[in-house]
Parts: sequence; C-alpha cells; structure tokens
Amino acid sequence: MADDDRPEDPGVGRRGLVSWLACGGAAALGVALGAPAVVFVTSPLRDAKTGGARWIKTIPESALAANAARKVTIVGEERDAWTVRKDVELGSVWLVRRQGAVVAFSAVCPHLGCAVAHEAGPSPGSLDGARFACPCHTSAFDMDGKRREGPAPRGLDELATKIEGGFVWVDFRRFRIGVTEKAELG
Ligand code: FES
Repeated sequence: MADDDRPEDPGVGRRGLVSWLACGGAAALGVALGAPAVVFVTSPLRDAKTGGARWIKTIPESALAANAARKVTIVGEERDAWTVRKDVELGSVWLVRRQGAVVAFSAVCPHLGCAVAHEAGPSPGSLDGARFACPCHTSAFDMDGKRREGPAPRGLDELATKIEGGFVWVDFRRFRIGVTEKAELG
C-alpha cells in the first residue's frame, strides 16, 4: 500500500493539536508575564525625561555685586533610569546682575561643550567691554549671551531665575551642543 493511501493515525492528529495548544499557551503566558516587566523597566526612563521646572537654590542675592558676573556650581539631585543621587554637581552657570535683574547663562559652550570663562571689561563695576569667552575654539559672547565670534552655532543658553528667601534660584537645564537651535536634553 502506498504511504498516501494509509489512513491517518488519529494519535498524530491529537499530538499535533496538543503541541499547537502548548505553544500558543506558552506564547500567551510570555506576553502576560513580559508586559508588566516592560512597564517596570521603562517607567523610570519616562520619569527621568519628564519636563518641568527644576529650581535650584544658589547664592544669596546679596553676594552678587551689581554689574558683575559670578560663576556658581549647581548642586542638586541626579536621576537616571533607576537611581536618585542627592547633592551631585550638576554643572555650573554664570549669574549676571544687571539693572536690578539677575540673569543666568549655562556655562557650557554651545559649540562643543567646554566651560566658558568671563572676561571683565576695562572699568571695574561696569559690564562695558566685558564678555564671555570659550578657551577651546575662541568663541566669544557678549554679556547678553549673544554670540559675537567663533564657531559656536548659537549664543549662550539662558536659564530662568527667581529671587526667593533672599537667594537666587535657577531653573537648571542642559541643552544640546553643536546645533543652532536651543534644544533641551531629555
Ligand atoms: S567648545 Fe567653545 S568654541 Fe569650541
């Protein structure tokens, strides 16, 4: 008798069905167990990228002389996907007091990320002739943060400030370097 003429073994059909159901069940179980795991793993990442103000207390307002710039270190909480570390140096900003207002600029050069320095002008107590300068590739910025020379693709990144309880607070953020638009890092 030719193989094709043999009646189908009913046991083979049942085994195939059982095997198919077992595979399907395992796949469903995998999805059921895997879905919560994905949420658990990705949720801290989403939290770390949440925007919103991040106010950091810096120096007393009285410590900032009129028409002067002062560099301050920003210390705060550092969050990554799974951990929170307190009192971490997050970066630094330049504070400038001008006409009664306090302005803050990121100290990170928007070209390739070097730390910009401040160069005082010829007259003490005046911002005339003063500027910010980057030592890496000679970009320079005026006291309003505008780019004046060098390869930096944009001016210094300004940060929001407020005075509260006699202290200068800065809404600290980081921005992409090497691009013309001011774009906050997530
Ligand atoms: S990093 Fe500042 S000019 Fe290049």
